[in-house]
Amino acid sequence: MIPAPWALLAEVTHACPLHCPYCSNPLELVRKSAELTAADWARVLAEAAELGVVQAHVSGGEPLLRPDLADIVRSAHRAGIYTQLVTSGVGLTPDRLGELLDVGLNSVQLSLQDARRPGSNLIAGRASYGDKERAAAVIRDAGLPFGLNVVLHRHNLDNLPDIIEVGARWGADRIELANTQFYGWALLNRAALLPTRDQLDRAKATVAEWRAAHGTKPELVWVMPDYYEGVPKPCMGGWGARSITVGPDGTALPCPAAYAVPDLAAPNVRDRSLAWIWEESPAFNAYRGTDWMTGPCRECPRREIDFGGCRCQAHALTGDAARTDPACALSPDHDLVRAATTAVDEDGRTAGADSFVYRRPGGPRISSNGSSRTP
Ligand code: SF4
Ligand code: FES
Repeated sequence: MIPAPWALLAEVTHACPLHCPYCSNPLELVRKSAELTAADWARVLAEAAELGVVQAHVSGGEPLLRPDLADIVRSAHRAGIYTQLVTSGVGLTPDRLGELLDVGLNSVQLSLQDARRPGSNLIAGRASYGDKERAAAVIRDAGLPFGLNVVLHRHNLDNLPDIIEVGARWGADRIELANTQFYGWALLNRAALLPTRDQLDRAKATVAEWRAAHGTKPELVWVMPDYYEGVPKPCMGGWGARSITVGPDGTALPCPAAYAVPDLAAPNVRDRSLAWIWEESPAFNAYRGTDWMTGPCRECPRREIDFGGCRCQAHALTGDAARTDPACALSPDHDLVRAATTAVDEDGRTAGADSFVYRRPGGPRISSNGSSRTP
């Protein structure tokens, strides 16, 4: 008996006004013409509720770029699913949020790239800080539960005290301090984004000091920087254990980065029911549980705690998704991670911001001399 999933990540579009170099979308972005319709999403959400899903993160790209977003949120609400909008804030006017509230939206997660305008705009690849500031006021005025998500890396970790202060001033209930996870776009940009150990130590101290002084107002959530911990993260709470990702074109995967894992034969909600996808599809069963494990994981006392780490990271670094996550100090491939952290610790912060490969449709654009082009 396979336990029910409880969360659905609904990536309703890959279109986005921003170009963050750590985007969790795949390198090959889905075109608008291939997107599921609102009617497709209504069926998917009804099936998800029937399967046991209680929470949907309506994400992208930027979900506000879908003119029919209210229809999708209404379908989630009618299915009895708690719905969170995950947004850059660009386009979140009082009218637009009012429209979504009327059809049952429950909460909003807003992204922020850095504490101050120049740094935030630089990472986003366009001016957007003002939009975020206005969006925060719109969310706060609506009285919705308000989460702020900040992806942390070498270029903003030193600003953490200011980032937390901005989040508190903007009225966030919760600030997710998400240390960059290095696959997809972020792996392409790893040399520019990987922080030093000193930066992380200072950031952890900042979080501890804030919690001691302010408790949970706002609540700070620290997402571990697995490259430096020596133990892997329990990615997605285990493969096919808690969550389903459905991409803009209906591709269904156990996590948003699994597009890059070859030979998965990813199912599509256009062809199969969500119940079949969850319970029977080869893709969702490929790394479920512990039977697939090899090497040190098979005998390890932590195998039910971290599930061997992240399959996407194992594939991205070793070419084999079934290997132990190289972030684990027990992995035979751990040197791959240690070489990267040693390099950045020795090299300090010399890589310039202009070396980002910004996320954009059509995949990465690398010029012939190896340097990236900005948008
Ligand atoms: Fe986790 Fe495998 Fe490392 Fe053990 S060997 S800590 S199960 S990744
Ligand atoms: Fe896919 Fe970790 S991101 S399993």
